Amino acid sequence: MADDRDQDPATEETSRVSVVREPRGVDDDEFRWHTGRQRPTGVQDAIEFIDVHKAFGRNKILRGLNMGIPEDKISMILGPSGTGKSVCIKHMVGLLYPDEGDVIVHGESVPHMTDDELFAMRKKFGVLFQDGALFGSMNLLDNVAFPLRQHTDKGEDEIMEIVNRRLLEVGLADAGDKMPNELSGGMRKRAGFARALVLDPDIVLFDEPDSGLDPVRTALLCELIKEIHEENGGAYVVITHDIMSARRVAEHISVLWKGRIVESGPAEELFNSENAFVRQFLSGESAGPLGME
Ligand SMILES: Nc1ncnc2c1ncn2[C@@H]1O[C@H](COP(=O)(O)OP(=O)(O)OP(=O)(O)O)[C@@H](O)[C@H]1O
Ligand SMILES: [Mg+2]
Repeated sequence: MADDRDQDPATEETSRVSVVREPRGVDDDEFRWHTGRQRPTGVQDAIEFIDVHKAFGRNKILRGLNMGIPEDKISMILGPSGTGKSVCIKHMVGLLYPDEGDVIVHGESVPHMTDDELFAMRKKFGVLFQDGALFGSMNLLDNVAFPLRQHTDKGEDEIMEIVNRRLLEVGLADAGDKMPNELSGGMRKRAGFARALVLDPDIVLFDEPDSGLDPVRTALLCELIKEIHEENGGAYVVITHDIMSARRVAEHISVLWKGRIVESGPAEELFNSENAFVRQFLSGESAGPLGME
């Protein structure tokens, strides 16, 4: 799998996700900010992208993406709109497959899984999709119970006990009989969070949990993510545009641009990065390599 890929002698000793190959037919200058730097930690990452290419027609989205998501940390993937952050999340759960390269979850290649293996693998994940995705025709109790009814043989009493505990955790203990359209945006996000956690997932993916929330609700949601991570552990992947959210919760950050990682590592290092693009993006300044293209 990874062992037969070309290795750059300069990076041979580092983890395999550190290997960066220039994509063919791309202006080198565009990638002058991409370091793809990734230090070996000695521990296998929960999720690895290895040289992943993905295009939709002629629209090349991922262009040799190498990215590791560490075990047991809250990781953030940051990057401008339309860079392929949601596309990354869909690769992690096997909703999209790479044109080239590999996506590895807990050591197993997602694109090589059979349907049964994929179904089993997805139970490891709790996912909060960008568009909310509560079932509009079900009340909150049934929404949160849905994965338990679909994926487990648990009886109704046990299911309701778990659902009520999860709703209590996210501050929606009294809203179980409400329909999604009776809830505010923030409540819907929290309900989606409760549903994402209901199978005790090893990996939780949040696609812009803070979009459409006011700053106070965003701060509260960040606190909730941290608290629940502390309690449950696991690899959390949070996608956001919001630098304040990143400062609040990120332990590990990967900055994505033009289909590749510019830089990744512990959050405090990224916030002190000397890379011009990373500095510009994390400080939200208009001056720098990132323009309105
Ligand atoms: N299924 C698809 N078919 C065709 N094009 C797609 C598909 N999914 C995504 N794209 C395209 O891939 C690009 C990246 O999309 P993606 O949703 O991953 O961006 P993003 O980084 O999540 O952006 P945002 O921050 O705005 O959510 C976009 O140009 C989008 O139009
Ligand atoms: Mg997105």
